[in-house]
Amino acid sequence: MPSDVTPAPRPLTAHAVESLRGRVQVPGDKSISHRALIIGALASGITRITGLLEAEDILATAGAIEAAGAPVEKADAEWTVTGRGVGGLCAPEAPINFGNSGTGVRLMLGVIAGHDMRVRLTGDASLSRRPMARVLTPLKQMGLEIEEGEDMLPLTVRGSSSLIPIVYELPVPSAQVKSAILLAGLHAAGETTVIEKEASRDHTERMLRYFGAEVRTTELDGRTAITIKGDGELQAQTIKVPGDPSSAAFLAAAALIVSGSDVTIEGVLVSPTRSGFYQTLREMGGDVEFLNERDESGERVADIRVRASKLKGVAVPAERAPSMIDEYPVLAVVAAFGVGETRMHGLAELKVKESDRLAATVAGLAANGVEALADGDTLIVRGTGKVSGGGTVATHLDHRIAMAFLTMGLASAQPVTVDDARMIATSFPEFRALMERIGAKFGETAGPQR
Ligand code: S3P
Repeated sequence: MPSDVTPAPRPLTAHAVESLRGRVQVPGDKSISHRALIIGALASGITRITGLLEAEDILATAGAIEAAGAPVEKADAEWTVTGRGVGGLCAPEAPINFGNSGTGVRLMLGVIAGHDMRVRLTGDASLSRRPMARVLTPLKQMGLEIEEGEDMLPLTVRGSSSLIPIVYELPVPSAQVKSAILLAGLHAAGETTVIEKEASRDHTERMLRYFGAEVRTTELDGRTAITIKGDGELQAQTIKVPGDPSSAAFLAAAALIVSGSDVTIEGVLVSPTRSGFYQTLREMGGDVEFLNERDESGERVADIRVRASKLKGVAVPAERAPSMIDEYPVLAVVAAFGVGETRMHGLAELKVKESDRLAATVAGLAANGVEALADGDTLIVRGTGKVSGGGTVATHLDHRIAMAFLTMGLASAQPVTVDDARMIATSFPEFRALMERIGAKFGETAGPQR
């Protein structure tokens, strides 16, 4: 369970290295890990999961479903969830603390909505600043009541065992909102439909189908409608979680920008809704190959081989943003090592992540001598092919800002320091060890500062 006691920040410095080489596996995908636990808790029987991401965000979700009556256990490398059936969870005795995890709290709000129970939800300082209205608005239409709080944590909510099905067009491109509505729709009498303009990650609908729910997807003049039939049954399943492409992104980026590198990351999820980053790297001139492509537990998986490359600036279209939303900070770092301007469009959602990632990325680049600016929802990076580095980056309790700038320091002239590396444990506790295994150098003491 996440703790409320916050120890002191832990700065970390990345130093330039000659080359990065080797084959590695990244831990399980964060989005699929959350969903495996949550959907497992709603199924009848015991769901078995291998490759589950063992990071703070996922442990918070495991704690939440356990508190609601679905035991989670680990034996050897396998996790099991004893499901309680659709609508079968019970009221937790104490508030549920979701730590730093927006996905955990938003998906669980969808689940709680379908149960006649009162639940208090809390989170850390970063999560308590993030907007919840995006999920509460549709869930209230379905029957969720907010007893305490408004748009942000802490919140006390009351669900209902007689939810009303809705048709809802997403005002923001968000898989978390889509998923919360579909999970609530599973508990409603009738059909619930979510309409999205841009395809966001589709793991919830895939996994619900895999567990036996009736879910159909239809195209409506450029938009997608996802419809779930409520009051069905889910049957426990066995799930193998593929490697997380958002974690692999840091290794891939490092291999591209450190000259002489050749790195293969095995068993990574490469479904179209998650691989916009890799497509963009190729457009920049990156030598990025998907090898041995295969299907595992209903998802597309490949080994990703990346070799150091000369890179150029590109324009990244807004429609691609949902398929690489978590990768923009590290893409901006890669762009700084390219030659020319990279323009990344449609990044409004980046402002409401674990930090305002648009502002944090621009500030981090500027602190290391890179010309960058945010023009409305567009991030512009002017790459010159090299980065001076030497700066200290404010991470604002954001794991991806920390990892992106540590990646930068592996190829910049001077070391790069991040003010706090603790939050990396929320999504990728093995980051440092895996990077070091392929040749990266980090140190606790700061390098030369500017
Ligand atoms: C996630 C969806 C994305 C992403 C987050 C994980 C998910 O958020 O940023 O890290 O698992 O559904 P939004 O759906 O809000 O864009």
